[in-house]
Amino acid sequence: MMDEEILRLLREHLSDFLSGEEISRRLKVTRTAVWKRVNHLRTLGYEIKASTRSGYRLIRSPDILTPSEIKPLLTTKWMGRTIHYFHAIDSTNSKAYQLALQGAEEGEVVIAESQMKGRGRLGRHWFSPPFLNLYLSVILRPKIPPYLASLITLMAAVATADAIQKYSGLLPMIKWPNDILLGGRKVAGLLNEIHSEMDRIHFVILGIGVNLNMDGKMFSKEIRDVATSLKRERGQTISRKTFLQSLLEELERWYAIFLKEGSATVLEAWRERAKIKGKRVKVTSFGETLSGVAVDVDSDGALILETKDGRQKRIVAGDVVYK
Ligand code: BTN
Repeated sequence: MMDEEILRLLREHLSDFLSGEEISRRLKVTRTAVWKRVNHLRTLGYEIKASTRSGYRLIRSPDILTPSEIKPLLTTKWMGRTIHYFHAIDSTNSKAYQLALQGAEEGEVVIAESQMKGRGRLGRHWFSPPFLNLYLSVILRPKIPPYLASLITLMAAVATADAIQKYSGLLPMIKWPNDILLGGRKVAGLLNEIHSEMDRIHFVILGIGVNLNMDGKMFSKEIRDVATSLKRERGQTISRKTFLQSLLEELERWYAIFLKEGSATVLEAWRERAKIKGKRVKVTSFGETLSGVAVDVDSDGALILETKDGRQKRIVAGDVVYK
């Protein structure tokens, strides 16, 4: 709390020094306490100039995702207005799920700099090293029946792809159901979880992981050829703060479109990004492997596959490889 207050005061005086005495008077703490917190802020990456005569001045802020760094940048009306921030956590999805059970509101967001047990789809691990990427989970409470929940996933995939395109100018593709690819390699993934009754959703957790500043060699050998990061594709370091701001903006925009216009607009945008029609694919679903031609994605997000014998199958969950 005190760190936030000190930063707030320093930000109000970006062009001059603020005396230690003034800060200690405003925060009702001793000058030694201020000095200790300033040193702590420096360890977090804040560059703070100190002068015995004039006091303190904030020179540069680190690219960290604390609420005090993010909030001034937010352009959303409600998405991400409450941020639960963690330096390290098991999984932002698990934390968001707990918070939602305790009554957290729609639009509350959990963000972590790193995850010890980052979760991917189908029980996989999501590599989550600190201060490089984005790991966030958004709580939504849509008033829709559970069978439409996968449309929320498609909506979030479209929003994530749009954020990547707007930020970088690159053209991301979506691979069913919700992998985001750049140059054929995965740059972001979504793990969405729902809590519901038979006919009513209590909440959806949108879990989004975007590889932003990982270098090629940071990926394990197993995924090096199939995974990428925005930095790798663009050849430039990515500001995680700015990217997060545009991601939240796109999520808010697309969720509003989904609620207002229903699934059609979302599906159209998803189809445009996925270009799945007519692709030869191999799908692994519940231990079974099927090959065929993708016909389309159904109005509830299921993949429609035409197998060799000419029959059409609906796949509701699984993994796709393009042939
Ligand atoms: C996938 O397998 O493609 C989905 C990956 C989802 C990773 C994100 S990172 C933030 C959130 N918390 C998690 O534990 N997983 C999701």
